Amino acid sequence: MKVQECVVVNEVVRHDPHGRRVWDEIIVPAGVKQALVNQALLSLLVRPGSTFVSTALHGMCTLHGPPGTGKTTLARGLPEQLAGFVAGRAVRLIEINPHGLMSAEHGQSQQRVDELLGDYVPSLAADGMPTVVVLDEVESMAVARSAASLAANPADVHRATDAVLTALDRNAVQHPHLFVVATSNFTEALDEAFLSRSDAAILVPLPDPAGLHAIVRSTLAALGDKYPPLGRLAEHPKLEAITAEAVGLDGRRTRKAVFQALARDLATVLDPGLLTLDSLAETLKDAAGLEAQGARDAAL
Ligand SMILES: Nc1ncnc2c1ncn2[C@@H]1O[C@H](COP(=O)(O)OP(=O)(O)O)[C@@H](O)[C@H]1O
Ligand SMILES: [Mg+2]
Repeated sequence: MKVQECVVVNEVVRHDPHGRRVWDEIIVPAGVKQALVNQALLSLLVRPGSTFVSTALHGMCTLHGPPGTGKTTLARGLPEQLAGFVAGRAVRLIEINPHGLMSAEHGQSQQRVDELLGDYVPSLAADGMPTVVVLDEVESMAVARSAASLAANPADVHRATDAVLTALDRNAVQHPHLFVVATSNFTEALDEAFLSRSDAAILVPLPDPAGLHAIVRSTLAALGDKYPPLGRLAEHPKLEAITAEAVGLDGRRTRKAVFQALARDLATVLDPGLLTLDSLAETLKDAAGLEAQGARDAAL
């Protein structure tokens, strides 16, 4: 696999005050989104023209938390949140999928990481436009060295991790218009040295009861355009109580549970407007129960 193939998105996002934003559909505790926007903006506005020594900012933050909590969606949506505040009103989005990078060939990973982060990504942003670089599921690159002894080729993993850190250090000094958002489902496996280079590590937790309510409500409301009874179900006074039973589900599964409820019956597949609160309640409860069982099994 060529390093170029690891760049899965490379686009310019322009400020659009009327754009529909997936960002708004991700429901996270107050402060999470603002922390991400503030950190990125501060970095993109302050670092150019300042020396690395004076700011000690690496231009990077880590979004960490359980899978399905919205980290990747937030990272991808960040450029449109920033575009209104930067000169030129445009921000480039570069997304990297590091999974293909860990080559089986001995010693290749380090070279590839270095080529990708140190050379190729900066070359894509050579025009100086503020750029958000999304390193999705970075744990596949920056595995903790302490855990690496379990890996098939630990020496290579060590070298690749070093290459990530070296490239980030180099970019921090040479390319202040780059801001890296790393996402991770397994914070405990992230390299300490990597985390210490993050200007901020932002936790994206599982939704709390209010969050679950808001997610189910927004899922139903979105369907309500096409199936008006679901729009009314979204505003049902008992919805809050039934969604509270779903504690433990992540955002992705919570949204999916609404569709599982529809899929239970051919009648609701053919006419989703027939969905009842009871059926939805049961599906949410079952999904949360399965999730809890899965967590118990995994702990055994
Ligand atoms: N906090 C959330 N609020 C609303 N929907 C969510 C949330 N988290 C996840 N989702 C749903 O799950 C999908 C996948 O989320 P994603 O960003 O890939 O999560 P992660 O990267 O944390 O695994 C989103 O597009 C959205 O439909
Ligand atoms: Mg993700």
